[in-house]
Amino acid sequence: MRVLVVGTGGREATIGWKLKNDPKVKKIFFAKGNASTQEYGENIYEDSIPELVEFAIREKIDLTIVGPEAPLVEGIVDKFKAEGLKIFGPNSKAASLEGSKAFSKKFMQTYGIKTAQAQVFEVYQEALDYVKNHNFPLVIKASGLAGGKGVVICENLEEADAVVHDFMIRKIHGDAGIKIIIEDFLQGFEASIICFSNGETLFPCIPVKDYKKVGEKDQGMNTGGMGSVAPSPEFNGMHYADFEKNIMLPTIEGLKKENLDFKGFIYFGLMVTPEGCHLLEYNMRLGDPETQALLPLLENSLVDVINDCMEGKPVELKFADQKAVCVVMVSGGYPGNIETGLKIKGLNNVEALCLMAGARKGGDNYYTTGGRVLNVVGFGDSYEAARKQVYDNIKKISFDYGFYRHDIGLFEQKK
Ligand code: AMP
Ligand code: GLY
Repeated sequence: MRVLVVGTGGREATIGWKLKNDPKVKKIFFAKGNASTQEYGENIYEDSIPELVEFAIREKIDLTIVGPEAPLVEGIVDKFKAEGLKIFGPNSKAASLEGSKAFSKKFMQTYGIKTAQAQVFEVYQEALDYVKNHNFPLVIKASGLAGGKGVVICENLEEADAVVHDFMIRKIHGDAGIKIIIEDFLQGFEASIICFSNGETLFPCIPVKDYKKVGEKDQGMNTGGMGSVAPSPEFNGMHYADFEKNIMLPTIEGLKKENLDFKGFIYFGLMVTPEGCHLLEYNMRLGDPETQALLPLLENSLVDVINDCMEGKPVELKFADQKAVCVVMVSGGYPGNIETGLKIKGLNNVEALCLMAGARKGGDNYYTTGGRVLNVVGFGDSYEAARKQVYDNIKKISFDYGFYRHDIGLFEQKK
């Protein structure tokens, strides 16, 4: 098979790492890829959807896997399918479950999917009146895609007024923020459940924990993800039964009734409170950095699973009985302003899986190109063993101002 992977991050590097040893996969192209993916296959310059369609036809691509949300929402699947090309992912209508929080909240409410109470606003004054009469904290979300920066937890009225103003009037997220969702704050722990969809039903992977905050002990700003652990040690069988009954099954019903059924990934972002699992969001793709901890534990061939899903067949997912811990090394200043082009040192001494994200190769050297620069993933029979492998190795890597969290996978000790 000739496979095209769309995306540039650690998630796409992990897909490439998983595919590169698959005897069925003869060649992998990455659009546009990064420093790791160029070692697993070939990075290409084509980027826009029409360019990628043309590339897939010209290069006789047998399967395209899409990493990030933006091309899905933009309709990459619709365009590929129109040319008879095989692509794993939702069409743009189904991708709206991620691309429009107003649409996905309505979907959740219609199909009785357990979620936080919320209201959608398009009129500035109505949103202001609503927050005035609401308890705090409350959560304000831009409806559209805002690169992970469109959700703010407000502690008081002054803050909420400012956020509503920033989103709806100042338009700091452009059109993504002119429609907003105001929802009740939920207190609990988060879990990510990623499922394969074969168009009929969903096949869940093991639950993963993602670390969103930049600082140790979950302090500071939200980020694209500072690390991940699979399986999540917090999410037990009881939580799973609750998720299946109150979230996954009604989602499958809703997808069918709304003609949103698709073959691809669907990711449930959950908040587990004392009242059970609540759905915070759908992502219509693999998570990043969840994938870095999850896919290496998947024992099935990824292309076999995807091919079966594409044919509407059932799949039986098998995961190694191991723990995986992924730590993300980021640029100084992240998630704010960062400097790029910095030389990454010490990579030759690393004896763990190292998946590049915001990094490029120049000659024999590696240089930073983004906020999340690289991922180191460790495995073991215990979280401690996996942690040790990661931290013994990530400390060998350095670049100016680079940093990472030291507490990824540590929560097991609290139990
Ligand atoms: P979302 O993009 O909707 O998943 O929100 C991003 C992050 O904001 C989540 O991963 C949570 O950490 C936080 N969040 C979102 N909604 C809520 C909520 N209703 N209560 C508490 N935290 C939330
Ligand atoms: N890790 C969260 C996401 O991929 O959106």
